[in-house]
Amino acid sequence: MANILITSGPTRQYLDPVRYLTNASSGRMGQALAEAALEAGHDVTVVTGPVSIDYPAAATVIAVDTTDEMLNAVLELFPACDGLIGAAAPCDYMPHRISTEKLAKDGQPLELELIETADIVATAAATKKKHQWVVGFALETEDRRFRAIVKMQRKCCDMMVSNGPAAINSLTNDVEILASDGTTLAHVTGSKQVVAAAILKATQLLIRTKS
Ligand code: C5P
Repeated sequence: MANILITSGPTRQYLDPVRYLTNASSGRMGQALAEAALEAGHDVTVVTGPVSIDYPAAATVIAVDTTDEMLNAVLELFPACDGLIGAAAPCDYMPHRISTEKLAKDGQPLELELIETADIVATAAATKKKHQWVVGFALETEDRRFRAIVKMQRKCCDMMVSNGPAAINSLTNDVEILASDGTTLAHVTGSKQVVAAAILKATQLLIRTKS
């Protein structure tokens, strides 16, 4: 039995008190992973951005809004966990300046300067202790496999799930699960439940090598 932390869903980055940048992530992959992990007997904590789905009642669910809030929750929880599965699609950019008042239209184009948000998986993975592991996801439109391996190394992940844009806000997924040495552990196409079961199976091996 392991303590598994899962990030799930999108995050929001505000321009002003009412407008924000985000993406169409539904949280369904994180939901399916939480179900599969609970079924395998693990303790599960989900840190989720705003979603309209429900997580299993047996999971501890922490709701956050922005990438920074998700990062802070993960950094607080990760030390007491055995592993992290980063299934969230955090908003990668944030406005350089956030207006405290609602931006008023003035008939002119609105120019936004965006800066990168913190990378949650990479920041948490940098704090990994010997027994801890991190599974990342890579969503790529081109060179999926190669880019996923590069991303796995850059973010210090122990396993990477490579998927395409069809995964976003969909009931199904088509993934390649990659080990840290770049070998393919599995190719899975199907419902997010089927994909989650395969990811959990591969994670079990990771848990065994770390303990
Ligand atoms: O967006 P990208 O394809 O780089 O995401 C790869 C992995 O990094 C995913 O597991 C995602 O949850 C994670 N990520 C993150 N923080 C970000 C961006 C991505 O944890 N700001």
